[in-house]
Amino acid sequence: MTRHALVVGGAGFIGSHLVAALLERGDRVRVLDDFSSGKRKNLDAVVDRVDVLVGDAADPSVVARAVAGVDVVFHEAAIASVQRSVDHPLASHRANLDSTVQLLTAAVSARVSRFVFAASSAAYGNDPELPKRETMLPDPPSPYAAQKLASEHYLAAFAQSFGLHTVALRYFNVYGPRQDPSSPYSGVISRFIATLLEGQRPVIFGDGEQTRDFVFVEDVVRANLLAAERDVRKGAVVNVATGRQVSVNRLFETVRAAVGGDSLRIEPERKPARAGEVRHSVADVGRAREWLGFESRIALEDGILKTVESVRKEVAS
Ligand SMILES: NC(=O)c1ccc[n+]([C@@H]2O[C@H](COP(=O)([O-])OP(=O)(O)OC[C@H]3O[C@@H](n4cnc5c(N)ncnc54)[C@H](O)[C@@H]3O)[C@@H](O)[C@H]2O)c1
Repeated sequence: MTRHALVVGGAGFIGSHLVAALLERGDRVRVLDDFSSGKRKNLDAVVDRVDVLVGDAADPSVVARAVAGVDVVFHEAAIASVQRSVDHPLASHRANLDSTVQLLTAAVSARVSRFVFAASSAAYGNDPELPKRETMLPDPPSPYAAQKLASEHYLAAFAQSFGLHTVALRYFNVYGPRQDPSSPYSGVISRFIATLLEGQRPVIFGDGEQTRDFVFVEDVVRANLLAAERDVRKGAVVNVATGRQVSVNRLFETVRAAVGGDSLRIEPERKPARAGEVRHSVADVGRAREWLGFESRIALEDGILKTVESVRKEVAS
């Protein structure tokens, strides 16, 4: 049976990979995106096969059109930046929370069968306890984290109040091709790659022994497909990560080895630690395994190599 999927934020980094995977397995796909950070070129390879709606996911009339006739909604749209949410909390609230409530309301009216949401590990905050389990009390330290957590709560509330089948996926640090290195808010891996390819010295804040759980975008896409299909309970919240802790220093060495050539002589520039930065982060992935049958497959070295290759192709084109 052909399914009809809506990917909100489908022109973005993660959303565009999800669009490609849905088309690959034969789904009909519609994208709703306002192209605020998403790019046309992210959809270049599939544009003939996708119905693209340009509009704001917080606008009720746009959203009603977007969900009409759709079986599954993947909500990947956001102003995906902690700093932007601190600088512009209201704009961030509209993009990150109003959009969720609009989409949920429209999904109930349109009798959508599954609603999958891109939540964030940011919701865990600064609690030093590791690994991060979904049962821990969240402690959102930024407007962005609060908006993501509030969205999760709305998903659970819509599951209970209206029977909508929702699943929230708490992504950890996602990386891969098409992550925008030019943005000051982009992921550390894409910044390291872009800086090394320019022959410059990437900046490491603090002693570099802070850790993160880096998950490759293809794994995140697979988690979304599983969340849309598995018999997981309504309103579920599930970590999407590798369960492996990698320091920024090790990350730098891995990226430098993947870029190779002259970059092997480049040492990072050290700057003072950034205030408020979480020291360590790693996910407990037991729930993802049990509830979604999900386990990450792409090793960091391989994911970084694929990302470097794609950045090189882009620079050459
Ligand atoms: N990249 C990560 O490491 C990470 C980690 C945790 C959670 N997330 C979440 O995953 C999702 C995708 O992130 P990404 O890294 O691909 O970001 P991205 O900025 O590349 O993609 C977001 C997309 O949403 C679109 N968008 C923003 N506001 C919109 C609005 N009001 N209406 C319609 N479209 C809108 C943008 O144009 C863009 O195409 C986001 O919800 C983000 O918060 C990402």
